[in-house]
Amino acid sequence: MHSVPRAGFLPAGQRRLAGEDRPLPIGEGQTSSQPRTVAAMLRLLDVHPGQRVLDVGAGSGWTTALLAWLVGPTGSVIGVELAPALAEWGAENLAATGQSWAVLRGADPDRLGAPDDAPFDRILVSAEARTMPQSLVDQIAPGGLMVVPVAGVMHRVERDAAGGAEGGVTTSTHGSYRFVPLR
Ligand SMILES: C[S@@+](CC[C@H](N)C(=O)[O-])C[C@H]1O[C@@H](n2cnc3c(N)ncnc32)[C@H](O)[C@@H]1O
Repeated sequence: MHSVPRAGFLPAGQRRLAGEDRPLPIGEGQTSSQPRTVAAMLRLLDVHPGQRVLDVGAGSGWTTALLAWLVGPTGSVIGVELAPALAEWGAENLAATGQSWAVLRGADPDRLGAPDDAPFDRILVSAEARTMPQSLVDQIAPGGLMVVPVAGVMHRVERDAAGGAEGGVTTSTHGSYRFVPLR
């Protein structure tokens, strides 16, 4: 997280607060998540160099840039963000890190995630779903995993290595968190 400083992903008026361990407003009623929460989610996600990663709710681009740093130039990251103004600003913030193997684009309001680019080795979801989003579970590659807050509880969903799209998944829970809603 020191390698991808949060300050580069905050509005000018919030940058002096970048080091504070709390959510900060990024506009459009959305937030840059608390750093401790981002770190916990990234630890659960267990990202490795070379992996294909999807970042749902990319917002400021910070998590997309952190994931890009973790996968390195042999990997790839797609960040999707529903709020158009945030997607545009987040893409600029991400581009400033020079990690060309990561992109941030507007989310399709009718299709969760990036089904045309699936499957993904790792999926990070930074907004809270009311129920487990099956359409995102379907985008996890065999042997891959997703970290997603569902109804206030952090979930980790792992797809069996042997399974295809129909293969089984194992779900575990990892504490209580509050997030903006997944829309
Ligand atoms: C906690 S905030 C942003 C955190 C972001 N990862 C960052 O580092 O700045 C969650 C974001 O999810 C977005 N969002 C909500 N529902 C979404 C959806 N269905 N697809 C894509 N983004 C969504 C919100 O607009 C919001 O910007």
